[in-house]
Formats: sequence, C-alpha cells, structure tokens
Amino acid sequence: KRLVVLVSGSGTNLQALLDEIERTGAESYGARIVAVGADRDGIEGLARAERAGLPTFVCRVKDFAGREEWDAALARAVADHEPDLVVSAGFMKIVGKEFLARFGGRFVNTHPALLPSFPGAHGVRDALAYGARVTGCTVHFVDDGVDTGPIIAQGVVEVRDEDDESALHERIKEVERRLLVEVVGRLARNGYRIEGRKVVIQ
Ligand code: GRF
Repeated sequence: KRLVVLVSGSGTNLQALLDEIERTGAESYGARIVAVGADRDGIEGLARAERAGLPTFVCRVKDFAGREEWDAALARAVADHEPDLVVSAGFMKIVGKEFLARFGGRFVNTHPALLPSFPGAHGVRDALAYGARVTGCTVHFVDDGVDTGPIIAQGVVEVRDEDDESALHERIKEVERRLLVEVVGRLARNGYRIEGRKVVIQ
C-alpha cells in the first residue's frame, strides 16, 4: 500500500513510520511512504522526509486566493502520488470538501487526547488545564468535523502532578507514535470497513 504523510512540525510520528518500515521492510509492514506533504516550509518533518529520500510538497494557504483553492491544490498534490492511505501526523490544517471527496474514508489523523475530549489544536494544554487525571491519544478517520471522525484506536497516558504541557505531550507522543505505527500497518495489511462510527479491521 502507498502512504502519503502530511506534517506541520517536528515529524516524529512520520519518523516512527519511516523507522518501522525500515526495520520490518515495506512488504511485511504492508505499506511504504511515497511522499510527504506540509502546509509550511522549513520544518523538521520535511527535513526528515528529504533525509529518507522521499518526494515532498508544500501547500501554503497564503499562496492561494482562498481556502477552497488551497484545499483543491492540496488534494491534487496528494493525488499525484496515488496514495491508498493518507496519514495526518501532526498536520495542523483542517481539510475541506474537495480533499474529503477524494480521500475521505482513507485519511487517518492522530490526535494527542482521548477524543471526544479535548479536540482541536490544543488538546494537551486543554486536558492539563481541565485537571484530567488521564489523557492520551486517538487515531481516527478524518470526517468533515474537527477531530470528530470514527475512532480506530486510543492509548491512555497518566497525567502527573508535575506535568507541564510539553512534558505531558512528550509522554503522549511516546504512546502515540507506537499506536500510529501499529494502526497504519494493520489498516494497510488487513483492509478495513467503516460502519457508521465503528471501524472494523479485517
Ligand atoms: C502530535 O502529537 C500530533 O498528535 C499533534 O502534534 C504532534 C505532532 O508531532 N497534532 P510530530 O510533528 O509528529 O512530532
């Protein structure tokens, strides 16, 4: 299976996928990354892709007349690589109708909180501020909402009294990277069905 991964930052989730595919081989893992896209230049996630010899592309909102044009351009840039599965690994933009029309049902996102709690761009900060005793991460299919699509898997992380946002986020990311690698491999190898809010992996 062909994966396109979308990033916006450090790309450690991308790196976890790259390392696992390197370790087990694309055949046994069931997928390989064919390209990495971003919404901004100069991020470590793109540098990781370049170090791995992967094609990269950048679609910046400000380069387009409006949001729809950006969304259509991103959809085209992804489609050029003919992915079976698209993975948002810290991609910090909400995609629109065009993108979902083409990749809905095969577009997976990872979020650093236990959805439906704490959706949006500050899930770690919000859980901490709320006083949650456990939080975690969620891998889900992307639908037309924000972090509202069918949940595939979740991992739980204890919140510690001494945690600040970055310490907690780092601990979440340790679980998140393993969860994403495991889920993407299973989706790629086994195939899956989405039945309403349920995801059935064969
Ligand atoms: C991840 O925790 C992701 O869930 C969140 O931002 C982080 C991205 O980390 N949206 P990285 O870029 O994969 O290191």
